[in-house]
Amino acid sequence: MPFYMSPETPAVVERDKRHHLHPYQVFESFAADGALPIASGEGAYITDTDGKRYIDAVGGLWCTNIGLGREDMVEAIADQVRMLAYSNPFVDMTHVPAADLATKLAELAPGDLNHVFFSTGGSTANDMAYRLAQFYHAINGRPEKRHVISRVDAYHGQTYASVSIGGKPGDRVEELEFLDNVHLLSSPNIYRYGGGLSEEAFGDKLHAEFVEKVAELGGPEYVSAFFAEPIMGSGGVVPPPANYLARIWEFCRDNDIIYVSDEVVTGFGRLGEWFSSETIFGIQPDIITAAKGLTSGYLPLGAVIFSDRIFDVISAAGQGPGYFPMGYTYGGHPVSCAAALKNIEILEDEGILEHVRDIGPYFMEQLNSLRELPMVGDVRGSHLMVCIEFVRDTATGEEYPYQVDIGKRVSNECDARGLIVRPVENLNIMSPPLIITREQVDFIVATLREAIPPAYAEAEKMMADLEPAH
Ligand SMILES: Cc1ncc(COP(=O)(O)O)c(C=O)c1O
Repeated sequence: MPFYMSPETPAVVERDKRHHLHPYQVFESFAADGALPIASGEGAYITDTDGKRYIDAVGGLWCTNIGLGREDMVEAIADQVRMLAYSNPFVDMTHVPAADLATKLAELAPGDLNHVFFSTGGSTANDMAYRLAQFYHAINGRPEKRHVISRVDAYHGQTYASVSIGGKPGDRVEELEFLDNVHLLSSPNIYRYGGGLSEEAFGDKLHAEFVEKVAELGGPEYVSAFFAEPIMGSGGVVPPPANYLARIWEFCRDNDIIYVSDEVVTGFGRLGEWFSSETIFGIQPDIITAAKGLTSGYLPLGAVIFSDRIFDVISAAGQGPGYFPMGYTYGGHPVSCAAALKNIEILEDEGILEHVRDIGPYFMEQLNSLRELPMVGDVRGSHLMVCIEFVRDTATGEEYPYQVDIGKRVSNECDARGLIVRPVENLNIMSPPLIITREQVDFIVATLREAIPPAYAEAEKMMADLEPAH
């Protein structure tokens, strides 16, 4: 057993509470409740340190695409560790897994995205995409092209640049600073902000807002890049109105604004495609960023996949510094690249993308049947990237106040029944492993059907306490 200290649950929770600061830890409730300690995982299941098994409908964090605990992954990783656990990727050295994986990604990516810069994850990929866009324009003789456009509710990661390009209100707290050349447009969430417009009219409005923002910044000659997740993920699983992204992409293409499609979540099969930009959304981006499903979460890795056009400019003789002034020690780590290559082989050999194209619509259809329950205001997403939005009143869309923490209430009820969903404010987000079966989908939906009514009753009880009778 790889434990050096007591594996007993209370002891683990106590050590964790004392020494481990978690991403997005909520100090008060964490001090009281601690975290759920997970000990093992297999396929779509995880097991806690008390031996209780759950279906992990979050897929780790949108990433355990081929499922946990695969022996073939263990072997591929162990073989690479034995062969070459690390090697310097800087300047003029390489290794076989990085060369092979870059070649494979160029083959899978659309259009002329034939160049790959490896990072350590999604945040570092987006950070590098930002710097690559600025570098490209400067070398191209357009250093004044420096403004970046993104959207409210977008999530692009946690480095200084990638969090600045993100637009989740909860991330942009006043105690922190952000880049001042990033401009946020409206969220494309029609359920929340559509104001009764048709999808087409809402898409027109968002497109017009983009064009106006470019003009306000002084015109395209001052705009470097547009960043967008094809379907916004942690900002609330927001599929874009039809054609809105494609029209923005056309504007970017015609005005040399770098279109960065953040496929950290949507790539590697979550929507039934290797990448969704071109095949689903009709966009031919200049840069695609990828991570997560690239290794199915077995090891950390990210990739910035970019066009011949960008490469030709930055590498042209006599322009710029003559070298690429960026790099990470662990970017394209050989063991991570070996894991990614094996993961891609499994996705291909087992027809997992085809499976997602089959099971994805079934998952959506089953989840939509929950709309008859109280509180289920919206069910949205696509394939294996979905969320349920809870509201107090489904007719008016009235929300529960944050103290009710409704997403967490439903997820607590699900935990008790052996299902992990991800609470984000008034949402439950789900992105299960791509190998999920129909029976497991049925279990997820049946569990939610059981979990929502008691959470609703509790929430209403709390509301009665918050709103004493007059
Ligand atoms: C769309 C998107 N981009 C980037 C990131 C950041 O990736 P990482 O956490 O690997 O740095 C995430 C993480 O959830 C994401 O959802």
